[in-house]
Parts: sequence; C-alpha cells; structure tokens
Amino acid sequence: MRRPLLSLLALGLLTAAPVPAQPALNPSADTLRDPIFPELGQVGLDVRHYDLHLTVTEPGTREVRGVVTLTLTSTRPLTQVRLDFLGPEVEAVRWNDRAVPFGVDEKAAKLTVTPPAPLRPGATARLTVEYAGTPGELEDPDFPTPLLLGWQAVPAEGGRAGANFVLSEPNGTHTFLPSNDHPSDKATFTTRVTVPRGYVAAASGVETGRVDAAGTSTFTFSQREPIPTYALGVFVDRFLRVDESAVPVGVGGSAVVRRDFFPPETPGPVRAAYVRTDEALRLLSEWFGPYPFGAYGVAVVTPRLPALETATLSTMPLNMSTERTAVHEIAHQWFGNAVTPATWPDVWLSEGMAAYSELLWTEHLGGDGQAYAARWHANLTRAGTRPLRATRAGELFDLSTYQRGALTFHALRAEIGDAAFRDFLRAYVTRFSAGAGTVSTPAFLAFVRERAGAGAEATVRRWVEERALPPLPVVGR
Ligand code: ARG
Ligand code: ZN
Repeated sequence: MRRPLLSLLALGLLTAAPVPAQPALNPSADTLRDPIFPELGQVGLDVRHYDLHLTVTEPGTREVRGVVTLTLTSTRPLTQVRLDFLGPEVEAVRWNDRAVPFGVDEKAAKLTVTPPAPLRPGATARLTVEYAGTPGELEDPDFPTPLLLGWQAVPAEGGRAGANFVLSEPNGTHTFLPSNDHPSDKATFTTRVTVPRGYVAAASGVETGRVDAAGTSTFTFSQREPIPTYALGVFVDRFLRVDESAVPVGVGGSAVVRRDFFPPETPGPVRAAYVRTDEALRLLSEWFGPYPFGAYGVAVVTPRLPALETATLSTMPLNMSTERTAVHEIAHQWFGNAVTPATWPDVWLSEGMAAYSELLWTEHLGGDGQAYAARWHANLTRAGTRPLRATRAGELFDLSTYQRGALTFHALRAEIGDAAFRDFLRAYVTRFSAGAGTVSTPAFLAFVRERAGAGAEATVRRWVEERALPPLPVVGR
C-alpha cells in the first residue's frame, strides 16, 4: 500500500540532508520534543484553524479524499512548515492560493512545505493541502488488542452498510489530516463531510448546513472553540440522528445543543446508557462551571475499541456503552478538551478528573463515593503504581493514570472540603481553558498552592511524585 516517496529529495526539501540556507531562520526542523512522542509537531508553528473537507465515496473502505486549508501563524520565522502527516498521497499544496513546493517524508511522517517567503511572527498564511487515497497505518502503542489509530473503516458485512470514523488519541489524527498533531497546539475546525446519499455524517461542533446534490450529501460542522487535534471526531454511517431539547448549561446559561447518533442496529440496552446525558451535564456543570462547547452528544460505533471524548460528540463503541463511561466522556469535555494536557505526560490530569467524575456521579445517584475511592486504592495496591507523569507510551492510559489520578483529586477534596473543592475546580477550568488552553503538571501544582495553600500542595505532590501509594484519603460524609 506504500506509495513511492515523492522525488523532492533532489530539491533539498526533505531533511534527509540538512538544509544549508539561512540557518538562523530555520528552526523549521525542530519538533516539539514531547517526552513521549518526540517527533510530533513543529516549534514555532501555531495552527489557528483547520478548514477540512473530507469525501468518503465508499463508506467502509479505507479510501478518503481530503482538502484542508490551515490558517497558520508562527512565533518564530519559519522557512518551512513541517506538518505531521502519514496520510494519503498528497496531490497539491498551495500557500495563500499559490502552488508551492512540498515533500513527503513517510518515515518521519512529515509533510514539508516551503513558502515563497518565510512565515514571520505575527503574519498569517493559508496553507491548502489536497490528498486522496489510503490513510497511513499507525499502531496504538499500548492497546491490548492491536488497534490502528486514526482513520477507521468498518467494512460492509451481511446486511450492514460500511462505516467510517476516526479514533485518534494520542497521535492518530495525522493519519488522515496534515496537522501540527500535538495537544499544545489547539485549533478551531470547520469540517465538511461528503458522503453518498442515504448516509449521515457527523463531526465535532455544531452542524451548520447540509447540502444534497446528485448522489451525495455534504454536512458541515463548526467547532468554534479550540480543541486538541486528537479530539476531532468524524463519523460516517447510516446513523439514526436523535435530537433532544437543548440544555441551558453553557457559558452564561446558554443552550447546549443535544444530538446523538446511533447506528441502525443499535440494541435497545445500548441506548439506555445515554438517557441521563442531560442530568450528567447539569451535575458536572455544577462542579466544573459552564459546559465549554456549543453541543454535546454521542456517536455510537460498532468495533470493540476504547471510548473517546471527541469534542462535542463522544465516540462510544457498543462495548463501552455504559452510563459510567458515558459520564466519564462528558467530563472530558472540560478536562481534556477545554483544559488540555500541555504534553503527553500530563494526560493523568485529564484521565484522573474524568475518572473522578464517575465517583461524583455515583454520589449523585446516592451511592457511596468513598467506597468507590477505596476500590481504586485497593486496585492500585494490588497491581502496583507509579508517579503520575507517564514516561513511556505504554503508561499513558494505564491504571495509575486513571485511578491514582482520580485519587489525587480525592486527596485534594479530603484536604480542603467539598465547597472549596468545587470552587477550586471551577477556578482551575477558568484559568487553564483560557489562552493556550493547556495545563502542565507543574502549572497544576502551582495552582493548587495558589488556591488551596502549601499544605494542599504538599498532599497533592505526594500523589503526583512519590513512588509509593499514599494512604487512602477519606472524604467525610
Ligand atoms: N481518553 C480515552 C478515555 O476516555 C482513552 C483513550 C485510550 N486510547 C488508546 N489509544 N489506548 O479514557
Ligand atoms: Zn478518559
């Protein structure tokens, strides 16, 4: 399935050999050096917006066509733009609507574009990439059954029509979208999806239009608040779309659009996991502050996979369709999508709070939250644990990330009490969803100190940094 390398080595556009000219103006080869995925991203590059048009001609196959225009700025002069891309064959690249030279380095998974003049700090450019074919294959680093991240195809089978969707966390988005594929560079998205008539497309954001043409339908979605690239959701199936009344839990009490997408063969009990979505949105917005986006719902998918908090529209596999997981993914809209890990080792801040929300939901239903926490503690005692910043890909989504992460928030709550904990969470979301919209572990610890004092910081630090598992914190009843 591999296509030939484009022969741009000759033009010196690939960095197989160092680019000689203008070294001072060429930090372009610098990646963001994430401790877990050091190859991702480009230093200085700031993608503000992706305007993406995907065409799926035969749902259920891996074929896809894309045209994307990135709105770019930079914080340093860039002689080249190096996007993460392990996608289909690139057919054309334009810079402000003019064709420009480009090169694809499959091994490095980079698309290198040379603008007519360096991109200067403060300037804005529009970079368009057209591509078509088969997305790259990227193995998930740690999922127990082999899982290809990024573009997913569900082949037609029996009476069932084929389907497609994306499942990208942590680094799968660049299998179908040329992107600065690191959570520190959040962006807004306009996503258009063209599908054969009879199919329904869905994507992150609010739907802003549908156009039917001869044999096709094109759906448009507007994700107006910045999100990390891994949280972009795109779905194609013969979905049943279920619209519910909007829920007034948005910023300033604004209405949050409610819609869910179910494949036609969804069994009845699966739907049951989603009947209390409004109640969960209300509960969590009381703890965390206003819901950060314009819409919420789920898209149910049929393969056995982890669930994923795709922005405004969580990806819920049939096998993960439980109310507990449903609440977990709703919580990620605040912790993950609005407040995003600055680097991959910081992902415990997302998973810890999403898992903690399961405890909050249990308490809301009249259950025993402290017993829930005690089970986490027993699990970690049995299985062993580690300091919270992950040091390799296999740790990103392990037991410590979720359950030790959750207990860290339980320890803070035990230390400061419910009212102060609620104030803390609301202030934390306000503070770290602003600006770049990211949080690092040190910034979190500094914020704990600032809001809750040195004692609380010391408690939290033990959970974050020590090898040993601290004793079970007790939240008074
Ligand atoms: N963030 C997802 C959750 O809701 C987990 C994603 C796991 N991804 C993976 N590639 N193993 O917990
Ligand atoms: Zn999660």
